[in-house]
Amino acid sequence: MILRPPYAADVETAYAWDRDPELAFWNGRPPISISLSAARRDYLSRWEDPSVKTFIIEAGEEDGNLRKPIGMATLYDFRKGGCELGIKIGPENLRGRGYASEAVGLLADYTFDVLNLEVLRGSTLADNDRMQRVFEKNGFEQTGNGAIVSRYDNRRYTELFYEKRRGA
Ligand SMILES: CC(C)(COP(=O)(O)OP(=O)(O)OC[C@H]1O[C@@H](n2cnc3c(N)ncnc32)[C@H](O)[C@@H]1OP(=O)(O)O)[C@@H](O)C(=O)NCCC(=O)NCCS
Repeated sequence: MILRPPYAADVETAYAWDRDPELAFWNGRPPISISLSAARRDYLSRWEDPSVKTFIIEAGEEDGNLRKPIGMATLYDFRKGGCELGIKIGPENLRGRGYASEAVGLLADYTFDVLNLEVLRGSTLADNDRMQRVFEKNGFEQTGNGAIVSRYDNRRYTELFYEKRRGA
């Protein structure tokens, strides 16, 4: 697996993922309804924005020749010596295969060793067993919880907060 910056050629893949209702639900927002060309403008400006670091997760055959984009991760909300992590694995049949666990490990190394931050934060819905497992496997601790109204369906959910500190 590698994490790399997004390119213009990734726009259509990112758009397909942002229109997927299941991914949107777990992300707490409605699937996007704007056109591909409007989305392209948004993505290209966000991917240039230095306050958000976006990564395409690529995985594939062992020899690396057939790697393709399978997901996306972001580091954002840089404050108090840390940042927040977001992640999704796009194709449904590629979830539950260990990809996010590996990607979160790489992102944690990047946060501590390259960005030199002290803490990596994350949150997920209390119903998201897979994401909780990904945090736990990577040495995150649950720091609290809160009520959240999802913009996906305007319903109330419980959100769990996690963090991993340098060296943990
Ligand atoms: C959540 C998500 C990022 C996790 O990525 P992933 O690559 O599927 O996760 P992994 O395969 O690395 O790890 C999942 C863990 O949960 C377990 N798991 C898989 N399906 C599960 C399920 N339905 N219920 C409970 N645990 C489950 C797996 O066994 C694995 O744990 P293990 O390694 O101890 O066996 C991915 O599934 C996804 O993109 N989901 C939709 C979007 C989303 O939820 N994003 C996160 C928003 S905070």
